[in-house]
Amino acid sequence: MNRIQIKKALLIAAALAVTSTAAAAGKLEIFSWWSGDEAPAKDALIKLYKQKYPGVDVIDATVAGGAGTNAKAVLKTRMLGGTPPDSFQVHAGQELIGTWVVANRMEDLSSLFKAEGWNKVLPQDVIDLISAKGGIWSVPVNVHRSNVMWYNPAKLKAWGVTPPKTWAEFLGTCAKLKAKGVAAPLVVGENWTQQHLWENVMIGTLGPQGWRDLWAGKLKFTDPRVVQGFTNFGKVMDCANKDASGLSWQQASDRIADGTSAFNIMGDWAAGYFTTTKKLAPNTGFGWAPTPDTRGTFVMLADSFGLPKGAKDRTEAINWLKLVGSKQGQDTFNPLKGSIAARTDSDLSKYGTYSKSAAADWKTNKIVGSMVHGAVAPESFTSAFGAIIDQFVASKNAQGAAAAAQQLADRAGIGK
Ligand code: GAL
Repeated sequence: MNRIQIKKALLIAAALAVTSTAAAAGKLEIFSWWSGDEAPAKDALIKLYKQKYPGVDVIDATVAGGAGTNAKAVLKTRMLGGTPPDSFQVHAGQELIGTWVVANRMEDLSSLFKAEGWNKVLPQDVIDLISAKGGIWSVPVNVHRSNVMWYNPAKLKAWGVTPPKTWAEFLGTCAKLKAKGVAAPLVVGENWTQQHLWENVMIGTLGPQGWRDLWAGKLKFTDPRVVQGFTNFGKVMDCANKDASGLSWQQASDRIADGTSAFNIMGDWAAGYFTTTKKLAPNTGFGWAPTPDTRGTFVMLADSFGLPKGAKDRTEAINWLKLVGSKQGQDTFNPLKGSIAARTDSDLSKYGTYSKSAAADWKTNKIVGSMVHGAVAPESFTSAFGAIIDQFVASKNAQGAAAAAQQLADRAGIGK
């Protein structure tokens, strides 16, 4: 090679290097509240994305805090400030529709659903939750169950009690355990976990149809049945630990694993935590039952990802959504998360004992949506309802709480 040839060769090599960097470039920012010890399922999904799109730099933006209480506030600032993440975690249902779709901040994903064939593999109930104004607005990755009571089988045996089937029985079991020196038979955590408990006691009190009527505006919060639900919730709270406000849901779950408390009412991300994070075995390390008075009802919620208008890395975000909605993506994520796939064609052999039982109930139970986790109520309701719960727990004034909840429901346009 002479000097000119060498120069030419170098120039071609440089140009190639530029081209290959350009092909490798690309960025994707996804936003969620799955951090720390509740991150493994999301981490596995990101790993899969990186395998498929090795050149893309994935920014995993998380804001810690169960149920997204902190993340949702940060998301709001970013969305309103015009710097949305490329895709973000949002609950299917009113949290998505009543907050971001009505504000015209999301892209309609109907054509993506058609292209990926998702209309055929997602249950109609789930599609209904993400549909409004003639569009489909997010991609559900899972179905979680909210109405689960977790316990430690060996400890219950040692205490001589069995999982109570009704709330009345629960109160009896609670008294029995207290008499045996268990200071707090029930463990609850920070405010949203108390709302979670409230929802479970209320559904047990009203039954699935009553709960549906409440969110359809057909049953008022001031109705004696709902007031009774608040009273029942107050009695159940008397059974709980006094340091609730300082505990995360994981710390509350730890008290079941270590046998400090007998029961925790929590969604089935607790199954993910027990098995994936704590490496406990189902039926020995932890046990479960439907929350009292809700056998035959599956209180559902679904995590989904949407595409905000103005996403900077739209192509990468669409590839992320394709993965989230795929069979491979869902069967990678959900066995670690404690949830079941939103898709009906998932491979159950990949799932643990708990999830298999949830999948069976999902097929046969009556399905209702969770309020705390965004299915039946908009953010404007759920974010303010926490204050009503705090006040109620302090005062135990059921009539007052019911009246305040009805005012809030009117302001949030529930049933309108
Ligand atoms: C729920 C969410 C679950 C889990 C849980 C605890 O709202 O749907 O996936 O993250 O909060 O943080």
